[in-house]
Amino acid sequence: MLPVSSTTDKPLNPLQRPRRLRRTATLRRMVRETTLNVDDLIYPMFVTEGKAQKVEIASMRGCYRYSLDLLLQEIAQVSQLGINAIALFPVIPENKKDDTGTESYNPQGLVQQTVKAIKQAVPEIVVITDVALDPFTTHGHDGLVDKKGTILNDQTVEILVKMALSQAAAGADFVAPSDMMDGRVGAIRKALDAEGYINVGILAYSAKYASAYYGPFRDALDSAPKFGDKQTYQMDAANAREALKEVELDIVEGADIVMVKPALAYLDIICQVKAATNLPVAAYNVSGEYAMIKAAAEMGWIDEKQVILESLTSMKRAGADLILTYFAKEVALMLL
Ligand code: PBG
Repeated sequence: MLPVSSTTDKPLNPLQRPRRLRRTATLRRMVRETTLNVDDLIYPMFVTEGKAQKVEIASMRGCYRYSLDLLLQEIAQVSQLGINAIALFPVIPENKKDDTGTESYNPQGLVQQTVKAIKQAVPEIVVITDVALDPFTTHGHDGLVDKKGTILNDQTVEILVKMALSQAAAGADFVAPSDMMDGRVGAIRKALDAEGYINVGILAYSAKYASAYYGPFRDALDSAPKFGDKQTYQMDAANAREALKEVELDIVEGADIVMVKPALAYLDIICQVKAATNLPVAAYNVSGEYAMIKAAAEMGWIDEKQVILESLTSMKRAGADLILTYFAKEVALMLL
């Protein structure tokens, strides 16, 4: 027996009963403010040298390093599921890395060849290439390093420009500088325009934080920094106004889309960036966010599907128009 409360004897009769709108699934659908759609998703994918390679990344269950042949098959599937865009990351063998990342702008490099092949095999998919030196440098930093261990800004930007141009020449639809050097968006935009790549866009990692959530990604690429950390170029997790400054600069410099990274611990930043610009805002649901959900699900501690959908919906609710997520394929299947 439930205790008889005084309120059931005497109804409260508030004028507003918000629960009326939650009574049935249909009503809830009618008043739902945010809907996750496959059009919102961008799928980050890893390419490695060789043939017939599909190697699972230990800390990112369900994500693989694919050789080009298998990557093309996977992209064909991904495109069929309605995913519009992929973000490509290369695994570069140690013997092709050097201090200055010269392999990054090799016209016959892994990224350049992969982009060409994708644009031939699945021309409708939007290909976004990463512009940063870390997969290509022996030291694993995103830029050039001097003898004292300082990351050099302007010299790095010169190389990033070469890298972006080589990706554009290969057919990339968007280049995505993830390095956080100052002035790189402007330098890349100027160079692209000068070379006639006026329709190649820039997805700028504008507010990219120095985050421990990138750990699994660095495993995926074998690109963890060999010394120091990335705090002199990536942003301090404690700062919000600085994110708005970075976004403002990237817009002035010619960014087409601005991004906040990571996503889940930075929903307030996504929200503020959205209010500060009319450009599309992207959020990067990074490797550590992915790995935490996968690990907890494997332990049987959470409902994986619901947690994925809740997390991505929260990013959209915060203001993200686009979400880079390793869950893209799974979510596309869920939304079918
Ligand atoms: C490097 C880069 C990183 C990620 C994307 N590009 C790692 C880093 O900055 O060290 C992280 C992506 C992820 O964790 O999912 N330029």
